[in-house]
Amino acid sequence: MCGVDCGAGPSGDDMFDRREHWETVYRTKGTTDVSWFEAEPEVSRKLIRSVASGGSGVIDVGGGASQLVDRLLADGYSPVAVLDVSATALEHARRRLGEVGRQVQWIVGDVTQVGDVGRFDVWHDRAVFHFLTDPEDRRKYVALAKRTIPVGGHLVIGTFAPDGPEKCSGLEVCRYDAAGLSAEFGSDFQLVQEMEHIHHTPAGKLQKFAFAVLRKNR
Ligand SMILES: C[S@@+](CC[C@H](N)C(=O)[O-])C[C@H]1O[C@@H](n2cnc3c(N)ncnc32)[C@H](O)[C@@H]1O
Repeated sequence: MCGVDCGAGPSGDDMFDRREHWETVYRTKGTTDVSWFEAEPEVSRKLIRSVASGGSGVIDVGGGASQLVDRLLADGYSPVAVLDVSATALEHARRRLGEVGRQVQWIVGDVTQVGDVGRFDVWHDRAVFHFLTDPEDRRKYVALAKRTIPVGGHLVIGTFAPDGPEKCSGLEVCRYDAAGLSAEFGSDFQLVQEMEHIHHTPAGKLQKFAFAVLRKNR
């Protein structure tokens, strides 16, 4: 469970504008300089491959400018969508992909605010859910995931681990292990795989991540 006091820090402040925060990040920093950058999103790709083959639909929630979308297209997943609160982040990814980017559904929106996004066999999230320090935001996120993933589909999610960093991009985060993540999504989902991962940031720091793969059973 999340132990962050929701009244503290920017994420608990009514004046905090999530969209503005992330737009500023992506307008002022290079996409390969941000702490979460990975040249090869190996863990995400491996976990997605373990539950879905080419032809399955994948949505990368809070995908930003991540290169995971490039790999998903190369691996033959379809349809592929990337949702992010920052239009600038998605524009970076779209430009990088060029013509092939036309195959991707780009969705600009806050995952806690958007309506339906369609149906996808796999919902992927690396380092987004952990920003939701408000239980009501987490409830909305879980509700959207439930509407989006069909029975038999999967959620592949990675957050900072319990002994990982307390902040990301200057924002407080909730830290989880796989069991804690599983608890957040309730009894409709079953934990089928878990993995710990140490991310090396471009600045040379180490960040502990916990990944969980949850199957939607009903
Ligand atoms: C730490 S970055 C991770 C980006 C990407 N998943 C990766 O692994 O490279 C967090 C991303 O989530 C996006 N984000 C943060 N809060 C969000 C929200 N409530 N709804 C949608 N996107 C959000 C940010 O714009 C940013 O791109």
